Amino acid sequence: MIYLDNGATGFPKSQYVLDAMKQAFLTCGNPSRGSHSLSRRGDELLYKCRVLLAKRFGTLPERVILTKNATEALNLAIKGLYPRHGEVLTSDLEHNAVLRPLHALRTAGEITLKQFRTSLSDDGVTVENFRTAAGKTVSMAVVTHGSNVCGRVLPVKEMRKSVGRGDFLMILDCSQTAGHLPIDITELGADVICIPGHKGLYGPMGTGALICHPTRPLAFRTLMEGGSGVLSRSLFMPEELPERLEAGTANVCGIAGLGAALEEFSFPKKEKALFARLLEGLKEKKGITVCGYCKGGTYLPVVLFNKEGTDCEDLALELAEKEIAVRAGLHCAPAAHRTIGTGDLGGVRVSLGRSNREADIDALLEAL
Ligand code: ALA
Repeated sequence: MIYLDNGATGFPKSQYVLDAMKQAFLTCGNPSRGSHSLSRRGDELLYKCRVLLAKRFGTLPERVILTKNATEALNLAIKGLYPRHGEVLTSDLEHNAVLRPLHALRTAGEITLKQFRTSLSDDGVTVENFRTAAGKTVSMAVVTHGSNVCGRVLPVKEMRKSVGRGDFLMILDCSQTAGHLPIDITELGADVICIPGHKGLYGPMGTGALICHPTRPLAFRTLMEGGSGVLSRSLFMPEELPERLEAGTANVCGIAGLGAALEEFSFPKKEKALFARLLEGLKEKKGITVCGYCKGGTYLPVVLFNKEGTDCEDLALELAEKEIAVRAGLHCAPAAHRTIGTGDLGGVRVSLGRSNREADIDALLEAL
Protein backbone atom coordinates (compact mmCIF):
# COMPACT_ATOMS: atom_id res chain seq x y z
CA MET A 1 0.00 0.00 0.00
CA ILE A 2 1.25 3.47 -0.89
CA TYR A 3 -0.29 5.64 1.78
CA LEU A 4 -0.85 9.27 0.80
CA ASP A 5 -3.76 10.10 3.11
CA ASN A 6 -1.91 11.36 6.18
CA GLY A 7 -4.25 14.36 6.40
CA ALA A 8 -6.97 11.92 7.45
CA THR A 9 -4.75 10.02 9.87
CA GLY A 10 -1.01 9.45 10.10
CA PHE A 11 -0.14 5.94 8.97
CA PRO A 12 1.47 3.54 9.69
CA LYS A 13 1.54 3.88 13.45
CA SER A 14 4.44 2.38 15.36
CA GLN A 15 4.78 -0.84 17.31
CA TYR A 16 6.00 1.26 20.26
CA VAL A 17 2.64 3.05 20.39
CA LEU A 18 0.73 -0.21 20.15
CA ASP A 19 2.82 -1.76 22.94
CA ALA A 20 2.10 1.22 25.20
CA MET A 21 -1.64 0.89 24.52
CA LYS A 22 -1.57 -2.83 25.22
CA GLN A 23 0.40 -2.30 28.41
CA ALA A 24 -2.15 0.29 29.60
CA PHE A 25 -5.02 -2.03 28.71
CA LEU A 26 -3.54 -4.80 30.82
CA THR A 27 -2.25 -2.79 33.77
CA CYS A 28 -4.42 0.29 34.43
CA GLY A 29 -7.40 1.05 36.62
CA ASN A 30 -9.60 4.15 36.36
CA PRO A 31 -7.45 7.28 36.86
CA SER A 32 -8.29 9.57 39.82
CA ARG A 33 -10.93 7.11 41.00
CA GLY A 34 -8.94 5.18 43.60
CA SER A 35 -5.83 5.19 45.75
CA HIS A 36 -4.79 1.71 44.63
CA SER A 37 -1.85 1.11 42.33
CA LEU A 38 -3.92 0.35 39.20
CA SER A 39 -5.73 3.67 39.40
CA ARG A 40 -2.47 5.48 40.13
CA ARG A 41 -0.88 3.86 37.09
CA GLY A 42 -3.70 5.30 34.97
CA ASP A 43 -3.08 8.73 36.53
CA GLU A 44 0.62 8.48 35.72
CA LEU A 45 -0.03 7.73 32.06
CA LEU A 46 -2.47 10.63 31.72
CA TYR A 47 -0.03 12.97 33.42
CA LYS A 48 2.85 11.81 31.25
CA CYS A 49 0.84 12.59 28.13
CA ARG A 50 -0.13 16.03 29.48
CA VAL A 51 3.51 16.82 30.25
CA LEU A 52 4.67 15.82 26.78
CA LEU A 53 1.90 17.80 25.06
CA ALA A 54 2.57 20.80 27.30
CA LYS A 55 6.27 20.72 26.37
CA ARG A 56 5.60 20.34 22.68
CA PHE A 57 3.06 23.18 22.50
CA GLY A 58 4.49 25.54 25.11
CA THR A 59 2.15 25.39 28.07
CA LEU A 60 1.69 23.78 31.49
CA PRO A 61 0.45 20.20 31.99
CA GLU A 62 -2.69 21.36 33.83
CA ARG A 63 -3.60 23.53 30.83
CA VAL A 64 -3.86 20.44 28.58
CA ILE A 65 -7.35 18.95 28.30
CA LEU A 66 -7.38 15.47 26.82
CA THR A 67 -10.17 14.91 24.30
CA LYS A 68 -11.22 12.25 21.83
CA ASN A 69 -10.27 14.31 18.76
CA ALA A 70 -9.74 17.86 17.50
CA THR A 71 -13.47 18.22 16.83
CA GLU A 72 -14.26 17.67 20.49
CA ALA A 73 -11.52 20.11 21.47
CA LEU A 74 -12.91 22.74 19.05
CA ASN A 75 -16.46 22.28 20.36
CA LEU A 76 -15.26 22.63 23.97
CA ALA A 77 -13.31 25.76 23.10
CA ILE A 78 -15.86 27.45 20.83
CA LYS A 79 -18.96 26.72 22.90
CA GLY A 80 -17.08 27.15 26.16
CA LEU A 81 -15.64 30.58 25.39
CA TYR A 82 -17.82 32.35 22.80
CA PRO A 83 -18.91 35.88 23.67
CA ARG A 84 -22.70 35.79 24.30
CA HIS A 85 -24.38 37.99 21.68
CA GLY A 86 -20.91 39.08 20.54
CA GLU A 87 -19.13 38.88 17.19
CA VAL A 88 -16.97 35.95 16.15
CA LEU A 89 -14.64 35.91 13.14
CA THR A 90 -13.60 32.93 11.04
CA SER A 91 -11.83 32.32 7.73
CA ASP A 92 -12.99 31.10 4.34
CA LEU A 93 -10.82 27.95 4.60
CA GLU A 94 -12.44 26.23 7.57
CA HIS A 95 -13.32 22.61 8.18
CA ASN A 96 -16.81 21.70 9.38
CA ALA A 97 -15.34 21.05 12.85
CA VAL A 98 -15.07 24.84 13.12
CA LEU A 99 -17.97 25.92 10.92
CA ARG A 100 -20.69 23.68 12.33
CA PRO A 101 -20.27 24.67 16.00
CA LEU A 102 -20.13 28.34 14.92
CA HIS A 103 -23.23 28.00 12.77
CA ALA A 104 -25.07 26.21 15.57
CA LEU A 105 -24.36 29.20 17.83
CA ARG A 106 -25.34 31.66 15.12
CA THR A 107 -28.60 29.84 14.41
CA ALA A 108 -29.42 29.87 18.12
CA GLY A 109 -28.97 33.67 18.10
CA GLU A 110 -25.94 33.44 20.40
CA ILE A 111 -23.35 35.09 18.13
CA THR A 112 -22.95 37.16 15.01
CA LEU A 113 -20.59 35.36 12.64
CA LYS A 114 -18.21 37.18 10.32
CA GLN A 115 -15.89 35.69 7.72
CA PHE A 116 -12.69 37.14 6.30
CA ARG A 117 -11.08 36.26 2.97
CA THR A 118 -7.68 34.60 2.97
CA SER A 119 -5.16 34.94 0.16
CA LEU A 120 -3.51 31.77 -1.12
CA SER A 121 -0.37 33.65 -2.08
CA ASP A 122 -0.02 36.78 0.00
CA ASP A 123 0.22 36.74 3.81
CA GLY A 124 0.01 40.53 3.93
CA VAL A 125 -3.41 40.46 2.28
CA THR A 126 -4.64 37.77 4.69
CA VAL A 127 -3.46 39.76 7.70
CA GLU A 128 -5.04 42.97 6.42
CA ASN A 129 -8.36 41.24 5.68
CA PHE A 130 -8.34 39.73 9.16
CA ARG A 131 -7.53 43.04 10.84
CA THR A 132 -10.22 44.91 8.92
CA ALA A 133 -12.87 42.27 9.58
CA ALA A 134 -12.01 42.14 13.29
CA GLY A 135 -12.38 45.91 13.56
CA LYS A 136 -13.11 47.11 17.07
CA THR A 137 -16.12 44.91 17.73
CA VAL A 138 -15.13 41.27 17.11
CA SER A 139 -14.05 39.64 20.36
CA MET A 140 -13.15 36.10 19.26
CA ALA A 141 -11.60 34.47 16.20
CA VAL A 142 -11.58 30.77 15.32
CA VAL A 143 -9.25 29.97 12.45
CA THR A 144 -7.39 27.11 10.89
CA HIS A 145 -3.62 27.16 11.23
CA GLY A 146 -3.32 25.13 8.02
CA SER A 147 -6.02 24.04 5.56
CA ASN A 148 -6.85 20.33 5.38
CA VAL A 149 -7.92 20.79 1.77
CA CYS A 150 -5.03 22.61 0.12
CA GLY A 151 -2.40 22.86 2.88
CA ARG A 152 -2.28 26.67 2.97
CA VAL A 153 -0.75 27.81 6.28
CA LEU A 154 -2.22 31.05 7.63
CA PRO A 155 0.01 33.74 9.18
CA VAL A 156 -1.80 33.40 12.50
CA LYS A 157 0.87 35.12 14.59
CA GLU A 158 0.76 38.27 12.46
CA MET A 159 -3.03 38.08 12.30
CA ARG A 160 -3.30 38.08 16.08
CA LYS A 161 -0.74 40.89 16.39
CA SER A 162 -2.65 43.03 13.90
CA VAL A 163 -5.65 43.18 16.22
CA GLY A 164 -3.69 44.29 19.26
CA ARG A 165 -6.55 44.30 21.79
CA GLY A 166 -5.65 42.25 24.87
CA ASP A 167 -9.19 40.91 25.40
CA PHE A 168 -9.39 39.41 21.88
CA LEU A 169 -9.63 35.59 22.03
CA MET A 170 -7.91 33.48 19.38
CA ILE A 171 -8.72 29.78 18.95
CA LEU A 172 -6.63 27.85 16.44
CA ASP A 173 -7.51 24.64 14.66
CA CYS A 174 -4.10 22.98 14.43
CA SER A 175 -5.44 19.68 13.12
CA GLN A 176 -3.15 19.62 10.11
CA THR A 177 -0.18 21.58 11.44
CA ALA A 178 0.47 19.67 14.70
CA GLY A 179 3.43 17.41 13.99
CA HIS A 180 4.32 19.22 10.77
CA LEU A 181 5.21 22.70 12.09
CA PRO A 182 6.73 23.76 15.42
CA ILE A 183 3.91 25.31 17.48
CA ASP A 184 4.32 27.38 20.62
CA ILE A 185 1.00 28.75 21.83
CA THR A 186 2.49 31.87 23.40
CA GLU A 187 4.67 32.58 20.39
CA LEU A 188 1.62 32.36 18.10
CA GLY A 189 -0.39 34.63 20.40
CA ALA A 190 -3.23 32.11 20.64
CA ASP A 191 -5.40 31.47 23.68
CA VAL A 192 -6.37 27.93 22.75
CA ILE A 193 -5.13 25.46 20.18
CA CYS A 194 -6.97 22.29 19.23
CA ILE A 195 -5.13 19.24 17.96
CA PRO A 196 -5.79 15.64 17.00
CA GLY A 197 -3.46 13.03 18.48
CA HIS A 198 -3.60 10.74 15.47
CA LYS A 199 -2.51 12.81 12.48
CA GLY A 200 0.94 14.43 12.43
CA LEU A 201 1.71 13.17 15.94
CA TYR A 202 1.01 9.51 15.02
CA GLY A 203 -0.94 8.64 18.15
CA PRO A 204 -4.04 6.45 17.99
CA MET A 205 -7.34 7.61 16.54
CA GLY A 206 -9.76 8.68 19.27
CA THR A 207 -7.22 11.02 20.89
CA GLY A 208 -6.83 14.79 20.79
CA ALA A 209 -6.30 17.79 23.03
CA LEU A 210 -7.42 21.29 23.81
CA ILE A 211 -4.31 23.20 24.81
CA CYS A 212 -4.65 26.48 26.70
CA HIS A 213 -2.24 29.38 27.01
CA PRO A 214 -0.15 28.89 30.16
CA THR A 215 -1.34 31.97 32.02
CA ARG A 216 -4.28 33.72 30.34
CA PRO A 217 -7.49 33.38 32.38
CA LEU A 218 -10.05 31.37 30.43
CA ALA A 219 -13.50 30.93 31.98
CA PHE A 220 -14.90 27.91 30.16
CA ARG A 221 -18.59 27.07 30.23
CA THR A 222 -18.98 23.29 30.33
CA LEU A 223 -20.56 21.23 27.57
CA MET A 224 -20.59 18.04 29.55
CA GLU A 225 -20.90 17.40 33.23
CA GLY A 226 -20.14 14.25 35.17
CA GLY A 227 -17.64 12.55 37.41
CA SER A 228 -14.23 14.13 37.64
CA GLY A 229 -12.73 12.15 40.51
CA VAL A 230 -12.39 15.37 42.58
CA LEU A 231 -14.82 17.59 44.57
CA SER A 232 -17.49 14.90 44.33
CA ARG A 233 -19.84 16.62 46.82
CA SER A 234 -20.39 19.55 44.48
CA LEU A 235 -23.17 19.46 41.90
CA PHE A 236 -21.00 21.57 39.63
CA MET A 237 -17.94 20.73 37.59
CA PRO A 238 -14.67 21.89 39.21
CA GLU A 239 -13.53 25.36 38.19
CA GLU A 240 -9.94 24.18 37.68
CA LEU A 241 -8.47 22.88 34.44
CA PRO A 242 -8.18 20.21 33.21
CA GLU A 243 -10.90 18.62 35.40
CA ARG A 244 -13.49 21.24 34.41
CA LEU A 245 -13.59 19.93 30.85
CA GLU A 246 -12.84 16.24 31.37
CA ALA A 247 -16.04 14.53 32.54
CA GLY A 248 -16.14 10.74 32.84
CA THR A 249 -13.60 7.97 32.42
CA ALA A 250 -10.69 8.82 30.14
CA ASN A 251 -9.52 6.88 27.08
CA VAL A 252 -6.53 5.58 29.03
CA CYS A 253 -5.24 3.18 26.38
CA GLY A 254 -5.45 5.82 23.65
CA ILE A 255 -3.79 8.44 25.83
CA ALA A 256 -1.01 5.98 26.73
CA GLY A 257 -0.52 5.49 22.99
CA LEU A 258 -0.41 9.22 22.37
CA GLY A 259 2.15 9.59 25.17
CA ALA A 260 4.32 6.96 23.52
CA ALA A 261 3.92 8.64 20.12
CA LEU A 262 5.07 11.94 21.62
CA GLU A 263 8.08 10.24 23.23
CA GLU A 264 9.33 9.02 19.88
CA PHE A 265 8.18 12.04 17.86
CA SER A 266 10.48 13.98 15.56
CA PHE A 267 9.58 16.31 12.69
CA PRO A 268 9.67 14.61 9.27
CA LYS A 269 12.84 15.67 7.46
CA LYS A 270 12.01 15.15 3.81
CA GLU A 271 8.56 16.68 3.61
CA LYS A 272 9.55 19.82 1.72
CA ALA A 273 11.53 17.97 -0.93
CA LEU A 274 8.77 15.39 -1.42
CA PHE A 275 6.15 18.12 -1.64
CA ALA A 276 8.17 19.92 -4.35
CA ARG A 277 8.61 16.65 -6.28
CA LEU A 278 4.88 15.96 -6.10
CA LEU A 279 3.89 19.46 -7.13
CA GLU A 280 6.28 19.55 -10.07
CA GLY A 281 5.30 16.05 -11.17
CA LEU A 282 1.59 16.86 -11.10
CA LYS A 283 2.07 20.13 -12.97
CA GLU A 284 3.84 18.28 -15.77
CA LYS A 285 1.01 15.76 -16.21
CA LYS A 286 -1.30 16.47 -19.10
CA GLY A 287 -4.92 16.85 -18.00
CA ILE A 288 -4.06 17.34 -14.33
CA THR A 289 -4.85 20.65 -12.62
CA VAL A 290 -3.38 21.46 -9.23
CA CYS A 291 -5.94 23.45 -7.22
CA GLY A 292 -5.53 25.80 -4.27
CA TYR A 293 -1.78 26.23 -4.60
CA CYS A 294 -0.19 29.61 -5.31
CA LYS A 295 3.47 30.54 -5.29
CA GLY A 296 4.30 32.91 -2.45
CA GLY A 297 2.21 31.20 0.22
CA THR A 298 3.41 28.76 2.89
CA TYR A 299 2.01 25.25 2.47
CA LEU A 300 1.83 21.99 4.36
CA PRO A 301 2.74 18.89 2.32
CA VAL A 302 -0.81 18.61 0.97
CA VAL A 303 -1.81 18.88 -2.68
CA LEU A 304 -5.29 19.01 -4.19
CA PHE A 305 -5.80 18.23 -7.86
CA ASN A 306 -8.31 17.17 -10.49
CA LYS A 307 -8.01 15.20 -13.70
CA GLU A 308 -9.79 16.50 -16.76
CA GLY A 309 -12.90 14.48 -17.61
CA THR A 310 -12.70 12.28 -14.50
CA ASP A 311 -14.75 12.56 -11.35
CA CYS A 312 -12.45 12.90 -8.34
CA GLU A 313 -14.15 10.06 -6.43
CA ASP A 314 -13.77 7.74 -9.45
CA LEU A 315 -10.10 8.63 -9.71
CA ALA A 316 -9.53 7.95 -6.00
CA LEU A 317 -11.24 4.59 -6.43
CA GLU A 318 -9.04 3.73 -9.39
CA LEU A 319 -5.97 4.66 -7.35
CA ALA A 320 -7.25 2.58 -4.42
CA GLU A 321 -7.50 -0.39 -6.78
CA LYS A 322 -3.81 0.12 -7.48
CA GLU A 323 -3.17 0.19 -3.70
CA ILE A 324 -2.60 3.95 -3.59
CA ALA A 325 -4.49 5.68 -0.77
CA VAL A 326 -5.65 9.28 -1.26
CA ARG A 327 -8.81 11.11 -0.21
CA ALA A 328 -11.27 12.62 -2.70
CA GLY A 329 -14.41 14.75 -2.42
CA LEU A 330 -14.96 17.76 -0.20
CA HIS A 331 -12.86 16.65 2.81
CA CYS A 332 -15.55 17.84 5.29
CA ALA A 333 -14.63 21.37 4.26
CA PRO A 334 -17.04 22.53 1.52
CA ALA A 335 -16.41 26.20 2.36
CA ALA A 336 -12.68 25.78 1.72
CA HIS A 337 -13.43 24.10 -1.61
CA ARG A 338 -15.67 27.05 -2.58
CA THR A 339 -12.81 29.43 -1.76
CA ILE A 340 -10.35 27.40 -3.83
CA GLY A 341 -12.80 27.11 -6.74
CA THR A 342 -13.52 23.39 -6.42
CA GLY A 343 -16.84 23.81 -4.62
CA ASP A 344 -18.83 21.83 -7.20
CA LEU A 345 -16.25 19.21 -8.15
CA GLY A 346 -14.23 18.61 -5.01
CA GLY A 347 -10.80 17.18 -5.72
CA VAL A 348 -8.26 14.48 -5.04
CA ARG A 349 -6.08 15.23 -2.02
CA VAL A 350 -2.60 13.83 -1.50
CA SER A 351 -1.28 14.42 2.02
CA LEU A 352 2.24 13.37 2.91
CA GLY A 353 3.59 12.01 6.18
CA ARG A 354 6.72 10.70 7.83
CA SER A 355 6.66 7.32 6.09
CA ASN A 356 6.63 8.68 2.54
CA ARG A 357 9.58 8.36 0.19
CA GLU A 358 10.37 9.55 -3.36
CA ALA A 359 9.21 6.17 -4.68
CA ASP A 360 5.68 6.81 -3.36
CA ILE A 361 5.42 10.08 -5.26
CA ASP A 362 6.79 8.46 -8.41
CA ALA A 363 4.32 5.57 -8.12
CA LEU A 364 1.41 7.99 -7.85
CA LEU A 365 2.61 9.98 -10.86
CA GLU A 366 3.09 6.79 -12.83
CA ALA A 367 -0.40 5.57 -11.93
CA LEU A 368 -1.92 8.90 -13.03
N1 ALA B 1 -10.31 16.05 8.75
C1 ALA B 1 -9.66 14.89 8.22
C2 ALA B 1 -9.29 15.06 6.77
O1 ALA B 1 -9.03 16.15 6.35
C3 ALA B 1 -10.36 13.63 8.53
O2 ALA B 1 -9.22 14.08 6.04
